[in-house]
Amino acid sequence: MLASLGARVISIDKAPLDPRIAAMPGVEMRRESAFGLDPRSAAVPAVDWLCSDVICYPARLLGLVQRWLATGKARRFVCSVKFQRETDFAVIDAFKAIPGSRLMHLSANKHELTWVKL
Ligand SMILES: C[S@@+](CC[C@H](N)C(=O)[O-])C[C@H]1O[C@@H](n2cnc3c(N)ncnc32)[C@H](O)[C@@H]1O
Repeated sequence: MLASLGARVISIDKAPLDPRIAAMPGVEMRRESAFGLDPRSAAVPAVDWLCSDVICYPARLLGLVQRWLATGKARRFVCSVKFQRETDFAVIDAFKAIPGSRLMHLSANKHELTWVKL
């Protein structure tokens, strides 16, 4: 979807991408953990959009977002915050407290919320 809009996409996923998507122009695939990336590293480029649909505990996603926010290397964020059985209200509050951001339950969201900072 992002690549079809003409974006240059860096896909970070431990699993392989569908080969048809990996072959699209502008798509770079990195088989690694999103949590192993250190945005402070010179090897990690600044991005216009950081989009995450990674399955993880909400607190872990919050930590990742905070690391990227601290560097200023991502201009905008769209992240799904996925809950396990329990809804983590403390993490919801922490996401809501990030200035200039919104947390929403969109029609495609099940036991998850979408956090955006535009
Ligand atoms: C819900 S799926 C994403 C589905 C995707 N939005 C789509 O439409 O095809 C979650 C993805 O997170 C990846 N994932 C899980 N742990 C990860 C990690 N630590 N780092 C990067 N990707 C991870 C999984 O391999 C999986 O592809």
